[in-house]
Formats: sequence, structure tokens, C-alpha cells
Amino acid sequence: MKILIATEKAFAPVAVRLIREVTEEAGHQLHLLENYKSPHELLDAVADADAMIVRSDLITPEVVDAARKLKIVVRAGAGYDNINIQACSAKNIVVMNTPGQNSNAVAELAFEMMLYHARSGFLGKSGTELRGKRLGLHAFGNVGKYMAEIGHGFGMDIFAFDLFLSEDVKKRSGIKFCGSAEELYGNCQYVSLHIPANEQTKCSIGYDLLKLLPPGAVLVNTARKEVISEDGLLKVFAERNDISYLSDGEPGCKAVFEEKYKGRFIFTARKMGAQTEEANINAGVAAAHQIVDFFKTGNEKFRVNK
Ligand code: 3PG
Repeated sequence: MKILIATEKAFAPVAVRLIREVTEEAGHQLHLLENYKSPHELLDAVADADAMIVRSDLITPEVVDAARKLKIVVRAGAGYDNINIQACSAKNIVVMNTPGQNSNAVAELAFEMMLYHARSGFLGKSGTELRGKRLGLHAFGNVGKYMAEIGHGFGMDIFAFDLFLSEDVKKRSGIKFCGSAEELYGNCQYVSLHIPANEQTKCSIGYDLLKLLPPGAVLVNTARKEVISEDGLLKVFAERNDISYLSDGEPGCKAVFEEKYKGRFIFTARKMGAQTEEANINAGVAAAHQIVDFFKTGNEKFRVNK
């Protein structure tokens, strides 16, 4: 089978080498399309691929149409909002993700931004500490668990709001749970987002929640920019000069922040939460094994379009 790695944001070379080992040892051919600049390059590359490993690459209906032999696409990562599931399902293409494999990297980036911000960008100005602060996790999945572990190390008091967790998981988590998003946002100096981007969550974090944040609060977004209502965010920033926004990736309203809110935001130039060698190896190699296993045994354990 021809397996294509199509990554507009390339994996670390060591991850590609290990993916190659896994796939070629199983008798498949590995092809590489990295750092491509135009969707046309992807359309050409998928034409004869039987399987594909992607990251945040946009798998549009056009890509699915062009991929005439495609049987499986694995998103080496957690969020699969970049993949048109309907188009894949219509052509009976299996879609999988690799949950948990890059979560530590994302959690570390959230803390890196929090620390850098708390110390005023390392410019010599007096800052603040994380110890004793309340960290609110909006969703307690794989990234949330690493956030709690790291937060405990810093002496933070950890809270979460998650609609989908059983009471049993909550009890064993070692953190406190809020009964509503309002309670979480109203109580925590740091609120960190770990919800997926889907029809229910897009634009769901807006003015009504953000206005509840306590004085000096920091909103940390290593999830997706789409879950924020940027109108609501800008309205809160216009009304209050005490809150900050740290985001992995640039929001649409970046220019307004640059003009008006210096020192109250950090935006990474490119989405880079999962951009570590370790995360690339974990997610990439997991994806390779899932493809090899799918072709060998039909294993669909991580299928998301059942
Ligand atoms: C994910 O959903 O796994 C993360 O957002 C990582 O995305 P990336 O692989 O495009 O860096």
C-alpha cells in the first residue's frame, strides 16, 4: 500500500524516520509531502495514496474526491475538525485520530505561555507567581490531565468543568469540579481551554462567560481559535484593562490586540502546541501503527467516523 504523510507543518525528522521504519517493515511504501504551500500539491499527492497521515492539514471534499484509492486517513493528533468527515464517510474512508499522543506537549506550551506572561515577558518588570492561583480547566480530557499534573507541581489549586465525565472519573481525578462553566470562569485566575471545535463549541466562549473572570485573570487557549467569540473577547477587553489572552495561534483580531492591548496577550506565530520531537514521534508513530494494523487485521479502534 502507498502511505502518504501530508504535513503542511512538518514532523521532526526523527519522527518521519520512525514512521518510515514502521510502515516499510510492514511492506508498505511511504511517500512524503511536507511543508507544501498550495492545496494543489496535496491534491496531486493524494491521487494514488491508499492511506494518509496528516496533522491540521485540511482534508476537504476536493481532497477526498482526488484521493481515488484512499481507504484510511489518520490525523496524527487529537482534533479532527480539519477533516471533512461527511465526505470521508460517503466514500467509506476510515478516519482515525491518535488521542493523548501529543497532550503533554500542548499542556507544556500552555504553562510556558503562562509563566512567560506571569513574569511580564522576562523584561525585568515585577511579575506574579502561579503558586496558590486557581487554574480552571475547561474540559478534563488528555490535555486537561497533564495540565492538572503540572499545575499541582506549581502549587496551583485545580478546578475543571466537563459535561461528559462520569462521577467516578471525577472522584479519582484529584481535582475539584465546578457545576457550570459560569462557576469555573467566575472563580479561576487562569482559565485554560481544552474543548474540541465542533458545531456545539464554535464561538461558545464569549462575552457572557469572559465578563465573569476575576480581576487580573488570564484566558489560555491551546485548543482552537474557533471556540472563542472574538466579538465577545474584544468587548471584554474594551471594558476591562485587567485581563489577558494567551493563544496558541493568532486570532483573527490580532491587529486590534497589537494596536490596543500591548502586554496583555501572547499569540504564537503558528499553532505549535504539538510541535515537539516527542509529540511528533508519539502521534506519528501511533498513526503509522494504526494504519499498518488496519491493513493487517482491520482494527478500527481509533475510528472517529463510525
Ligand atoms: C491536535 O489537535 O492534536 C493539536 O491541535 C495539534 O495539531 P498539529 O498537529 O497541527 O500541531
